[in-house]
Amino acid sequence: MSRGATALCSETIPDVRVCETIRNVTVRQEKSPFIQACRREPVPHTPVWYMRQAGRSLPEYRKVREGVSMLDSCTRPDLITEITLQPLRRYDVDAAILFSDIVVPLRAVGIDVDIKAGIGPVVATPVRTSADLGRLRALEPDDVPYVTEAVGMLVAELNDRPLIGFAGGPFTLASYLVEGGPSKNHDKTKALMYGNPELWHALLGRLADITISFLQIQVGAGASAIQLFDSWVGAVGPDDYRHAILPHTSRIFSALGSTGVPRIHFGVGTGELLGLMGEAGADVVGVDWRIPLDEAVRRVEPGKALQGNLDPAVLLAPWEVVEERARDVLVRGRTAEGHVFNLGHGVLPETDPGVLARLADLVHAESIRPDA
Ligand code: CP3
Repeated sequence: MSRGATALCSETIPDVRVCETIRNVTVRQEKSPFIQACRREPVPHTPVWYMRQAGRSLPEYRKVREGVSMLDSCTRPDLITEITLQPLRRYDVDAAILFSDIVVPLRAVGIDVDIKAGIGPVVATPVRTSADLGRLRALEPDDVPYVTEAVGMLVAELNDRPLIGFAGGPFTLASYLVEGGPSKNHDKTKALMYGNPELWHALLGRLADITISFLQIQVGAGASAIQLFDSWVGAVGPDDYRHAILPHTSRIFSALGSTGVPRIHFGVGTGELLGLMGEAGADVVGVDWRIPLDEAVRRVEPGKALQGNLDPAVLLAPWEVVEERARDVLVRGRTAEGHVFNLGHGVLPETDPGVLARLADLVHAESIRPDA
């Protein structure tokens, strides 16, 4: 049983048998609509959470972050816990996502990465040669004690609401490391992928090792689902994805398989990759807004749930538009074996939190299935 789950059970449920873990997820979380939808089981209503729900548009987030850099805030268990919980006080979402960042494990192994406000991750000395690989050592639990501590505190606090742990996918992490920062076309990254396959695979192999360890630490501490954000992998075509990326992603998902927690796989602009992203071993395939969910169903092999996919920019339009588009997502989502409502990418910083609150309520009300 995970540490977090132990704390949860001993504190809140006297009958410990109720709390036996089913492969890392407590019985009470197993009954949560989010976990049920990930497992393609009947749900009382469609579950909803928002990518990047923590931070971004919340004034209380800006307040607690005053004077603390982004990456420092990711190393303070008190702040991680507070920021993870902030959106749950406003929105009736069915899951929390850990406040962290995809570059946290890279910094933890000693990569000189910082997150610059309004820009994103910047790597002072990019990784471009085989000699540079030496800087990507394995990640040990002792490198991220603040993650273990924060997850434990959160699971105790969240009761039956699942906590999603996450990590960056191999292509996306490689892109930040090779480019040295955010990139539009990922040219240096793709030049390495095409021009030096041996170094490319060695790099992605090391990143996969770090990612496996980072995700296992989160699940070990009590996270009850994980999401792999390979946000920029839509930059490559299917053949290259299959040969250059999928083997590493598959290794990540299969290493997490024995934990039994649902594994979600997401990227932006991945319409042509959805089938392969499922094949890589995800239980849930995240879909951006460019492909309707019923079309995504045709592209992904049976036996997978889908997550998505309202265009986050729709939330900047009048409520009637949001309502109509959200209903459309729900209707199309019903063609999937399981559907977790989400945006097609992260919450935009200018989004009105009131609209996100109203949207969560709408998703629940519209999708209620009293018989489930
Ligand atoms: O979803 C959540 O609310 C949990 C927190 C979370 C953050 N980053 C906090 C953050 C998550 C899941 C991430 C993942 C992440 N980080 C991704 C994958 C998701 C995606 O959006 O595609 C990527 C590509 C990154 C890298 C990154 N970190 C970028 C590009 C940026 C800057 C631009 C931005 O989004 O604001 C960051 C910084 C960052 N990560 C912020 C937050 C709250 C903003 C920094 C700040 O508030 O000072």
